[in-house]
Amino acid sequence: MNEQSEAILPSQQVIALQAETSRLNKMVKALMNRAERAMSAQGSEFGLFQATIMLENQVRERTHALEAALEDIKKMARALRGAQSQMQMEIEERKQVNEALEQEKEDQRILIQKLEETQNQLLQSEKLASIGQLAAGVAHEINNPIGFVNSNLGTLRNYVGKLMELIDIYESANICDRNEETYHKSRIDEFRKNIDIDFLRADINSLIDESIDGTARVKRIVHDLRDFSRIGGVDRVYVDIHEGIDSTLNILGNELKHKAVVIREYGAIPQVECVPSQINQVFMNILINAAQAITSQGEITIHSDCNDGWVTIAISDNGKGIDPKNLSKIFDPFFTTKPVGEGTGLGLSISYGIVKNHGGKLDVKSEVGKGTTFTICLPLRRRDDPSRD
Ligand SMILES: Nc1ncnc2c1ncn2[C@@H]1O[C@H](COP(=O)(O)OP(=O)(O)OP(=O)(O)O)[C@@H](O)[C@H]1O
Ligand SMILES: [Mg+2]
Repeated sequence: MNEQSEAILPSQQVIALQAETSRLNKMVKALMNRAERAMSAQGSEFGLFQATIMLENQVRERTHALEAALEDIKKMARALRGAQSQMQMEIEERKQVNEALEQEKEDQRILIQKLEETQNQLLQSEKLASIGQLAAGVAHEINNPIGFVNSNLGTLRNYVGKLMELIDIYESANICDRNEETYHKSRIDEFRKNIDIDFLRADINSLIDESIDGTARVKRIVHDLRDFSRIGGVDRVYVDIHEGIDSTLNILGNELKHKAVVIREYGAIPQVECVPSQINQVFMNILINAAQAITSQGEITIHSDCNDGWVTIAISDNGKGIDPKNLSKIFDPFFTTKPVGEGTGLGLSISYGIVKNHGGKLDVKSEVGKGTTFTICLPLRRRDDPSRD
């Protein structure tokens, strides 16, 4: 038996077999010695000789049997060795598969991290785009009243100058002597005629009213902007959703007014727990899309409702509608049918994410040539999206 197979044989069996073999060898040797001694000492004694031969045969048979058993064990050892090396190969293969899996897991972790970073950047860029859009809208809305208040003030300065001149003429008439009275009276009449005092009187009033109205508009815009951008935090608070829609509509005023009449069908809804700045961003994205879908003058209807702890806000337009083949793609980031530079294709994907994070749903129904309705469903009370980690 070689060293390797010995190492693999079940040790107890080998030891037992070896011990038995050597015991039998010893026995044979002892018997042979005894027979030899007996033959030489007492002469041949046939019976003893026969017994010795029989015993010798038995021992030989037994030795053969043991050698055959030993051979079987060697075969078993070889088979075991084969199985062992097979097992080692399998273990090695599994180790390699495990290492590959670990590597894949690590790659995926890095990929997920990169995706999260990209998503954050996207959110940030969409926020910046919204702020830019909002700033442009607000600048326009403020620019208009500020423009006419400014021009009114210029006109008023001119009017006030003329009135001051008239007052000067009155004052000099007051201190003149009686001989010059007629002269002054005619000078006053002529000046009043020149400056069209009746028109001045009426116009001053309307200029002041208009200006007060203009500054009130600026004040309202600033107020709406503050409302809209209770933005800063991401804390959920209870808010009147209608106020959010109204301030968003005011901010978008200019963009919408040339495109559509806005019809508000507000139902009775309680306050909703949400992050108002984010929900207002959703209204803004959907309203801008609605306005962009209308080619000439159209209609945008905002319908709100409350049922079983859910608030539903449906925003419908009678614009060009969405091609059925695009309907499943509109919530994908970067999907846009708008020309380069006009749409990034992020508005709806961001809106979808915001509504989902509020535990709500954002659905769409559209018919080409007839219009589109986006329905935002929000739970009245906080219900985080369970699929979020
Ligand atoms: N009310 C709508 N009517 C018709 N098509 C719409 C409407 N709203 C969205 N869409 C379609 O869905 C696409 C994706 O809208 P989304 O708001 O995500 O991106 P966008 O408007 O193209 O660009 P962005 O909002 O980033 O400026 C639009 O390009 C348009 O084809
Ligand atoms: Mg959009």
